[in-house]
Amino acid sequence: MDILSTVNSNDIILTGDRTTGQLHLGHYVGSLRNRVILQDRCQQFLLLADAQALTDNMGNYLKVRDNVLQVALDYLAVGIDPAKSTIFIQSLVPELTELASYYLNLVTVARLERNPTIKDEIKQRGYERDIPVGFLTYPAAQAADITAFRATVVPVGADQIPMIEQTNEIVRRFNSSVAGDVLVEARAVVPAAGARLPGIDGKAKMSKSLGNALPLSASPDDIRQAVKMMYTDPGHLRVEDPGRVDGNVVFTYLDAFESDSTQLAELKERYQRGGLGDAVIKKQLEERLQALLAPIRARREEFARDPGQVMAMLKQGTQQARTVAARTLADVKAAMGLNYY
Ligand code: TRP
Repeated sequence: MDILSTVNSNDIILTGDRTTGQLHLGHYVGSLRNRVILQDRCQQFLLLADAQALTDNMGNYLKVRDNVLQVALDYLAVGIDPAKSTIFIQSLVPELTELASYYLNLVTVARLERNPTIKDEIKQRGYERDIPVGFLTYPAAQAADITAFRATVVPVGADQIPMIEQTNEIVRRFNSSVAGDVLVEARAVVPAAGARLPGIDGKAKMSKSLGNALPLSASPDDIRQAVKMMYTDPGHLRVEDPGRVDGNVVFTYLDAFESDSTQLAELKERYQRGGLGDAVIKKQLEERLQALLAPIRARREEFARDPGQVMAMLKQGTQQARTVAARTLADVKAAMGLNYY
């Protein structure tokens, strides 16, 4: 179901991004544009997950550090408003680490190793048995991120569902071991089917590491090149030939970015009938993308001119986040009797 139809004013949203690179069009379609709408509906916390990014990037700590600003610029560029959303830096909220240290007593190594996302990531990274402990246990740290803010909704990609399941397991275990409702369970909400944008090469996922992403800061020329390179229907050789719409990357993108659905339906019909060239559909897609990204790029450049101001905004958000996390931590410790004086 679409996230916008499931969230109400009592919900508390928490979500975040690892700071390993700039955000791209896939992030925009799958989550950023929703965040802009949801910040007017309920409380929303946005986490710049630098500490989590370090769990598999210790050799690259400057990349993680530098992308805190880059991701913050992406947020601001799309219209996330720090007066409405609390944007904060994970590593500057030590309460999260402290909370996670207690949660680690409620999870087993076997359970962490069974987490399907962790399992995949261990394989992808080739860790075998040499798994950094911080990496293996990041689901418990993520449980801290979520519960510290008493989040009820966690908008994430489908690969993150196991993290929310494990968070809720920790919540139930904690609450039953202290016999109280101290922590709150959260629900994962994944992007609707139509909100998953494939890479510009047509591969299932747009991702910087796959080299098939279009960053939000893309120049007009980058956008032109990306559309030019997109596959259409390999059997559509001459303009007169009937073309396929299914699996045609240009049409998949038009589905996401063309708001005139009647006109798009007509375009598909003409393409399938034959007589419509790839150049026409590509031109239309390029126009839509240029129009979408031009104001985003302009705002991004404007904010980038004053990084000090962006950092001051992050400092303020981080202070707000710390206040909230400290309250939850105090409740958690009191529930365990760790309120000595
Ligand atoms: N694991 C998330 C990702 O890789 C980032 C993240 C960290 C997160 N903490 C979170 C997402 C808490 C949601 C809630 O994208």
